[in-house]
Amino acid sequence: MNIEKYLNQIIEGNCVEVMKQFDNDVIDLTVTSPPYDDLRNYKGYVFPFEDIAKELFRITKQGGVVVWVVNDATIEGSETGTSFKQALYFKEIGFNLHDTMIFRKKNPIPQIYRKRYNNEFEFMFVFSKGVVKTHNQIMVDSLHVGLQLNGTTYKNYSKNEQVREKMANPVKEKK
Ligand SMILES: C[S@@+](CC[C@H](N)C(=O)[O-])C[C@H]1O[C@@H](n2cnc3c(N)ncnc32)[C@H](O)[C@@H]1O
Repeated sequence: MNIEKYLNQIIEGNCVEVMKQFDNDVIDLTVTSPPYDDLRNYKGYVFPFEDIAKELFRITKQGGVVVWVVNDATIEGSETGTSFKQALYFKEIGFNLHDTMIFRKKNPIPQIYRKRYNNEFEFMFVFSKGVVKTHNQIMVDSLHVGLQLNGTTYKNYSKNEQVREKMANPVKEKK
């Protein structure tokens, strides 16, 4: 089915069934916070993780990205490790594990009666289909904008003796 039909629409449905309607290689970016470890009951919805991961791979464009926000339940004193198992499964079916980030929560559940620290984050696994096509870096102001060094700078990062080669460029506005 042509993806144009779905642009700027909110589609309500089982994500596996919905994704099955899409052609191959049509999605640039998926951001999702899926259910994990059966912590909640979603009105009878089941969550076939492996089918979902495979569909995501099929519909993602070459260079496209999936951001998968998950955590682990703690059962009988142990974190389940589901998040890591899922990340490895995504790799197994062909995604790159491009970046493992965390999303810091503002409302973590306090663990005051347990012998453990508060868990204040969820994993944000960033998977890509091949090399990421678009990367808009977060830029910050440089402290020494425009500074030009009189001397030369070391440009040789090899293990051997370093040699001074070129004049340093003036410091850019953003880094
Ligand atoms: C952890 S919540 C994420 C909530 C969402 N990030 C938000 O802020 O509203 C997981 C969501 O996945 C939905 N869900 C569960 N199984 C699904 C499925 N098979 N297809 C589509 N959505 C599903 C649930 O209804 C729930 O809204």
